[in-house]
Amino acid sequence: MMPSKTTQTPGRRRGIFITLEGIEGSGKTTQLARLSKFLREEGYRVVETREPGGTPLAERIRGVMLNIPPATPSEHLIRHPAEPITSECEAALVFAARAQHVTHVIQPALQDGAIVLCDRFFDSTLAYQGYARGVNLRTLSILNRFATRGVTPHLTLLFDLPVERGLARRRRHDAEQNRLDRETRQFHTRVRKGFLALAAKEPRRLKVIDAKPDPDRIAADVMAVVNTFLRKARTS
Ligand SMILES: Nc1ncnc2c1ncn2[C@@H]1O[C@H](COP(=O)(O)OP(=O)(O)O)[C@@H](O)[C@H]1O
Ligand SMILES: [Mg+2]
Repeated sequence: MMPSKTTQTPGRRRGIFITLEGIEGSGKTTQLARLSKFLREEGYRVVETREPGGTPLAERIRGVMLNIPPATPSEHLIRHPAEPITSECEAALVFAARAQHVTHVIQPALQDGAIVLCDRFFDSTLAYQGYARGVNLRTLSILNRFATRGVTPHLTLLFDLPVERGLARRRRHDAEQNRLDRETRQFHTRVRKGFLALAAKEPRRLKVIDAKPDPDRIAADVMAVVNTFLRKARTS
């Protein structure tokens, strides 16, 4: 399971799948880039990806889900500009995108021995569609097994900070606010609590990182957690 820098055993699943999770503005994208650079410098092969998305079709589904308008609006869109998306539709779109992503990107990269770094994955589905929107958590888990055929992160970094600070960062830096950024503060608070509940349930996989300090400090904490994980993986 462990990607070695020098030797690889053919035929075994030997990649490592690391996901980065947290509310909007918690620093996932920033820290993914830094972790990727660090691991590449250490000699690992790294695949960077994100959800929803990661393949051309899945990125189109992302656009639909986050309500990024198509270049040419359809007749229907012009007549019904504000059709609300149901929680069930939102969840189904996420799983549709994930099935493409796991099959065409994540699984091949893991079989190839890479370290896959993914910006959001199933924990986001549980936090957003489950804890925040109220879709049944067991239903989501069953659908997730269907979409992923059991592909699960080995390690998940959960970037935790107060909702206000995350949203303020996004407002300060991002011109484009997507449909989920515009949700209420209460919604984002439910998401944060959901993530923390998941971390409490699975402390071996989910490691909570304090996302309040400056990016250098957070990056150092991330490297420490990942190094500990890689050391353990190497000896097991
Ligand atoms: N530790 C930090 N302190 C202050 N600002 C940060 C920090 N980390 C990231 N940012 C800035 O906050 C914004 C959101 O960070 P980003 O990494 O995009 O978060 P996410 O991907 O979790 O939404 C970005 O503009 C980024 O430059
Ligand atoms: Mg991001």
